[in-house]
Amino acid sequence: MQVVHTIAALRERLAGSRAPAFVATMGNLHDGHIALVHKAKLLGDVTVASVFVNRLQFLPHEDFDSYPRTLEADAAKLADAGCDLLFAPNERELYPQPQAFKVVPDPALADLLEGEFRPGFFTGVSTVVMKLFQCVQPRVALFGKKDYQQLMVIRRMVQQFAMPIEIVAHETLRAEDGLALSSRNAYLSPEQRQEAVQLSRALARMAQQLRGGAAVAAVEAEAMATLAQRGWQPDYMTVRSRNDLQPPGAGEPVVLLGAARLGSTRLIDNLEA
Ligand code: PAF
Repeated sequence: MQVVHTIAALRERLAGSRAPAFVATMGNLHDGHIALVHKAKLLGDVTVASVFVNRLQFLPHEDFDSYPRTLEADAAKLADAGCDLLFAPNERELYPQPQAFKVVPDPALADLLEGEFRPGFFTGVSTVVMKLFQCVQPRVALFGKKDYQQLMVIRRMVQQFAMPIEIVAHETLRAEDGLALSSRNAYLSPEQRQEAVQLSRALARMAQQLRGGAAVAAVEAEAMATLAQRGWQPDYMTVRSRNDLQPPGAGEPVVLLGAARLGSTRLIDNLEA
């Protein structure tokens, strides 16, 4: 696997490629990222991954400074997975001047759920993903369903800007007990790690209650209360339409989404039900 740090070197290496398949990451890679790379290998003629911790998507009080930067280990995992090319720019390369032009996603999709609790998050994500897409010019790009709203925002961006990129979703990878894999799981103490599975269990319980005919509002309230009683600080536990993340109309396919803080670690998860 070749590692490049500049846009010029990336473009030079990709000059002959007709169908790069791209996995964008912020590093600190786990098996969920590696599953994306394996899938990418089936879909393109060159598999490209990026590692870049994107300042624009962190709020001032969030973990930008402490976000684990593990480039050497990440590169080894990517090479093992058969990735062909790693693009690992530094901030000066990707943002040589303050990034004054930004991609502002539709507030109807981006200002709710994660966007409500992390204002500006999806502008930061959309801006860096747009820029990475301009650098790599992939034919296909892969994203995990764990970041469900992010996936929807990126799909919509690609569609609205008529970008010739196929967005492929990958199912969430889970630990044996059901906890969704996330780079931020590394922040959990051993006790918190044991407790963390309760987020996916709460979502599974919500799905069961809905199947049993319970009202949406009651299901949401009970999930919030259950997590709060266990010592979590839930931001939302909610039932939404898979089409637009709004409260679902009758018969619409739904996704259950949850975000909650355990100690100082904020976890998200979702379940299509
Ligand atoms: O999901 C992530 O890791 C990030 O939000 C992404 C898509 C790499 C943009 O920085």
